Amino acid sequence: MNHAVVLGTQWGDEGKGKIVDFLARQKRFTSVVRYQGGNNAGHTVVVGGERFAFHLLPSGILYKQKTCVIGNGVIVDPKVLNFEIRRLEKRVGKKHARILISEKCHLIMPWHQIIDGIIGGKLGTTQRGIGPCYTDVNARRGIRFMDAKSKKVFGLRVKEELAWNKKLIGLAYGQPKLARRLNEAKIVTSYWRWINLLKANRRVEIDDCSEWLNRRQAKGEGILFEGAQATLLDVAHGTYPFVTSSNATVGGLYTGTGFRPRQLSVVGVVKAYTTRVGTGPFPTELTDAVAERLREVGHEYGTTTGRPRRCGWLDATIVNYARKINGLDSVAVTKLDVLSGIEKLKVAVAYKVDGKTLNTFPVDVELLNQAKPVYRQVAGWEEDITRVRKFSQLPRAAREYIKLLEAASEVKVTMIGVGPNRNELIVR
Ligand code: IMP
Repeated sequence: MNHAVVLGTQWGDEGKGKIVDFLARQKRFTSVVRYQGGNNAGHTVVVGGERFAFHLLPSGILYKQKTCVIGNGVIVDPKVLNFEIRRLEKRVGKKHARILISEKCHLIMPWHQIIDGIIGGKLGTTQRGIGPCYTDVNARRGIRFMDAKSKKVFGLRVKEELAWNKKLIGLAYGQPKLARRLNEAKIVTSYWRWINLLKANRRVEIDDCSEWLNRRQAKGEGILFEGAQATLLDVAHGTYPFVTSSNATVGGLYTGTGFRPRQLSVVGVVKAYTTRVGTGPFPTELTDAVAERLREVGHEYGTTTGRPRRCGWLDATIVNYARKINGLDSVAVTKLDVLSGIEKLKVAVAYKVDGKTLNTFPVDVELLNQAKPVYRQVAGWEEDITRVRKFSQLPRAAREYIKLLEAASEVKVTMIGVGPNRNELIVR
């Protein structure tokens, strides 16, 4: 198949960055495209022991000959994007992919961050202004790169939105002090500077991405799409309201790029156990020594916020749900090595609600609060598996674990991560 999308099946942090970075190496992919989310994402790529963390830049950015596209569905904080590019260029110079940003991308403005700070706490958001910015996108109040063609037009848009948001923050949210912090001249000057710094970078372009992607497809080139967050954080299909504000499932690709891939392979990334940051239900969550071990061995601390992640057993009903919602063609399992040394492992394969067995993941939060996972317990393995490159060379118990996931989720595992490095991967 010509094009591929890599997306999360659980609550994010599955290790999508590593899989995208690995696939991006293939010659057939000339572009790597982000299509939703913002700098709430944190994608980690490790090359030769060197760790790179990306928030807005697609994980294919380390390939100089590729183009990385930030599609219209992504919301952009131009200051963060500049910092990210600058930090990268300090390490690799201009030897990174060309960056194409959609002119239709909406900008995260300072009032979005303030509002997220006021209301995001109970959902445990990343406090990056994500929810309030997408609210403005849908309320048709957003400011886009398109609005920044001239300083005068941009200034007028800021003036208009600032007046509204000052009232919102000061009166509706009762925080006049925070409202007073917003200074029109300072906002216009700083945003104008950040946007122009992007425009001045010869490896960056702000343009029509849909047109550009269509041209790539017409030439027969392959495009790799990179989802951020994950299926259960999708605003439509996740554990609402404990979700992010974008479509992290495959549908987001279409609206977030304005492009229809003719042939698309859908790869779901599954961490070998489950983690979640922020609040909301998590039925297979553990709070014992196993959770502590997963957190420490798996470095389960947020790439974006540094928060410790909640950890628990693998839930195959979630993967099965993600298969149906996204039409998964295959699965990449990550961090299998983290499970080495745990004597007995458990995988949720169904739920019990009011004495009845449910074979599907109960996405309704009320139901989820009452549902109890039904586990299959399997043997663990002792061996260090980080040097294994062939499925047949994995310990028998590890192979059984993967087969159990395949049977319960009805999807084939084609890649298995056995360490953080680019090459620590089994391809079947
Ligand atoms: P927001 O996206 O900042 O609005 O946060 C909404 C929810 O999504 C919170 O529970 C966050 O912790 C979670 N979230 C957002 N982005 C990510 C991510 O990239 N990985 C994991 N969780 C995320």
